[in-house]
Amino acid sequence: MPEKTLRSSRLLLSLTAFSMFFLILSSFFLFHSVINPLIPSSIYKQFVADSVPIDNKLEGNDELELSKPVVVPLPLDLSGNESCNRNKALLRVYMYDMPPEFHFGLLDWKAGPNRIWPDVREPKHIPRYPGGLNLQHSIEYWLTLDLLSSNVREIVRPCSVIRVENPSDADFIFVPFFASLSYNRHSKVVQKDKFTINKILQDQLVEYLMSRPEWIKSGGKDHIIVAHHPNSLLYVRTRLGSARFVLADFGRYAANTANLEKDVIAPYQHVVRSISNNSSAPFEQRPTLAYFQGAIYRKDGGAIRQELFYLLKDEKDVHFTFGSTQRSGVLQASLGMGSSKFCLNIAGDTPSSNRLFDAIVSHCVPVIISDNIELPFEDVLNYSEFSVFVWESYAVKPGFLVNLLRGIGKDEWTKMWEKLKEVAHHFEYRYPSQPGDAVDMIWQAFARKKTSSKMNRKERIYRTQ
Ligand SMILES: *[C@@H]1O[C@H](CO)[C@@H](O)[C@H](O)[C@H]1NC(C)=O
Ligand SMILES: *[C@@H]1O[C@H](CO)[C@@H](O)[C@H](O)[C@H]1NC(C)=O
Ligand SMILES: *[C@@H]1O[C@H](CO)[C@@H](O)[C@H](O)[C@H]1NC(C)=O
Ligand SMILES: *[C@@H]1O[C@H](CO)[C@@H](O)[C@H](O)[C@H]1NC(C)=O
Repeated sequence: MPEKTLRSSRLLLSLTAFSMFFLILSSFFLFHSVINPLIPSSIYKQFVADSVPIDNKLEGNDELELSKPVVVPLPLDLSGNESCNRNKALLRVYMYDMPPEFHFGLLDWKAGPNRIWPDVREPKHIPRYPGGLNLQHSIEYWLTLDLLSSNVREIVRPCSVIRVENPSDADFIFVPFFASLSYNRHSKVVQKDKFTINKILQDQLVEYLMSRPEWIKSGGKDHIIVAHHPNSLLYVRTRLGSARFVLADFGRYAANTANLEKDVIAPYQHVVRSISNNSSAPFEQRPTLAYFQGAIYRKDGGAIRQELFYLLKDEKDVHFTFGSTQRSGVLQASLGMGSSKFCLNIAGDTPSSNRLFDAIVSHCVPVIISDNIELPFEDVLNYSEFSVFVWESYAVKPGFLVNLLRGIGKDEWTKMWEKLKEVAHHFEYRYPSQPGDAVDMIWQAFARKKTSSKMNRKERIYRTQ
């Protein structure tokens, strides 16, 4: 090769290498900033660097549950034991084999040829859910994974639900559309196109369902659609309103589209770390009387928050931060809630928020100031045993709240704290699901709907003095 050509091809080579390097570097930063604009990098790293052997992480629930999809193989001598089958399960559910673009494709999962679902046997084949605040609404992901794993004999899980092959065998028909993820990831208008991918998917969903014999037969009444983010499924929720929804609350729904008779309220996935029983601080070791942090959320919330802020801001043992977004928000909230006796849940732009569930897993007694809130599993859980209910109109009376909380002494508080420790696991989303966890509780709630449409909520005891 003549020397000149050689030199120029070397130049070309190094140029190529150089630009490749930059491409990789910039895509790394792009990935980093697009997926997690709101969470501190320490937390982000937890998700990304989570390649520790899975078995080490089975104990305790200090980790964010997302990061460990676990398949526990049964001991050999038990395999072949039909521990769950269609006769034993409380619920038989048929799930549409919808194209991946409606579900795991939204997690950038690439289906192989003729594949619709990831192989749930292999933890490394299960697409990860993005971290950060999107996690709050990941309910669709956990329920779908649980249905998929219900047909895998080696996976140990409760037998509340089993996926059946034949729609006519099913109590309910599950629609595997990741509506919250679709909203979170695809609600920006793409250049040139007038519509968002989120809207297009919703229109396609309606088209898909309306052409299905199962939908036509029941008018959609036995279909389950998960739409946990208050803005998800926005364009088509009334058209699909005959279906049973899994929701965070009814705040943005008309009463005939969503109600307790047909629908199920599911907890938010908490974003702070769960406290273990052993490290949960008792009464004396929680110096802060009441805790509220609005900092990790983007929206400013309702007027009542401002009123309470002005009432409480000068109380020395009350932590009330409002407005600013701090990078270390999640970590601070974990520490703050874990060292507070009471955690305030004040109505915001929606009646519910994940603060309630962050409080519960921090064993910080929730003070619920949100008249229109719906609470998960309230027909079986007596929230008054571990929470304090206050009407909004009472909370804003000067002195009322502080006097009420100071009046709750060690004994009464400790009873509620012990109860919190008992119920906290009902609010954990896990894969594989475990008895009584949030996934199991949601299926059980549907099982109760099978027999009775009336939901008898436990009476809430509102404090008025
Ligand atoms: C299946 O497993 C359960 C619990 O592990 C055990 O109680 C039951 O006897 C087993 N059944 C059969 C048929 O092996
Ligand atoms: C919790 O404390 C008990 C008794 O002090 C101890 O036996 C147990 O091992 C501890 N559990 C964990 C997970 O640290
Ligand atoms: C719920 O708990 C409260 C507080 O412990 C109690 O007073 C009330 O009787 C309970 N309600 C039911 C229906 O058990
Ligand atoms: C924590 O303690 C409560 C009772 O105080 C108990 O019901 C619960 O099972 C315990 N949780 C764990 C993970 O040990």
